[in-house]
Amino acid sequence: MKNRVEFTAAVENEMRLLLPSLSVNEGMARAAVAAFCAQLNPTALELADIKCAVSEAVTNCIVHAYRESIGEISIGVKLCEGRLIQIEIQDKGCGIADVKKAREPLFTTDAEGERSGMGFTVMENFCDEMRVQSRLGRGTTVILRKRLHK
Ligand SMILES: Nc1ncnc2c1ncn2[C@@H]1O[C@H](COP(=O)(O)OP(=O)(O)O)[C@@H](O)[C@H]1O
Ligand SMILES: [Mg+2]
Repeated sequence: MKNRVEFTAAVENEMRLLLPSLSVNEGMARAAVAAFCAQLNPTALELADIKCAVSEAVTNCIVHAYRESIGEISIGVKLCEGRLIQIEIQDKGCGIADVKKAREPLFTTDAEGERSGMGFTVMENFCDEMRVQSRLGRGTTVILRKRLHK
């Protein structure tokens, strides 16, 4: 069980990115978040973890939330006191019926067999904390928190 990271720390810098759910924007989102976080001088491994987690969350918006359509993805990044990073990825897509189930390793609703069902597991393991809030028909918000080395 991982230690919970408390994020009561003051926000020192923040950014917000709004993108349509085109697959070309997955790489854009990943690179933009990494570029913004680079000001904290993360290690190469920390940066790779952040990119991977963001990539999984944004891919889920593209392939699941807006499966039959194109919708808006909002990505917010907060850099907080004490080298804490909070990343919020939000969609207004289909929502998740059972979040607990969706978070289980290997669970996927993908019928074509293209998805591994490991997206949430990757996000959870590459960050210190992951929160998922979802409402059917309303959308999903994933909050990722990571504390960088001193
Ligand atoms: N943003 C989202 N909107 C709707 N459903 C989602 C979203 N993110 C994840 N899901 C659901 O949770 C399941 C598990 O997600 P994930 O662990 O990334 O595995 P995968 O994407 O490989 O299916 C998905 O199959 C999908 O049903
Ligand atoms: Mg996924």
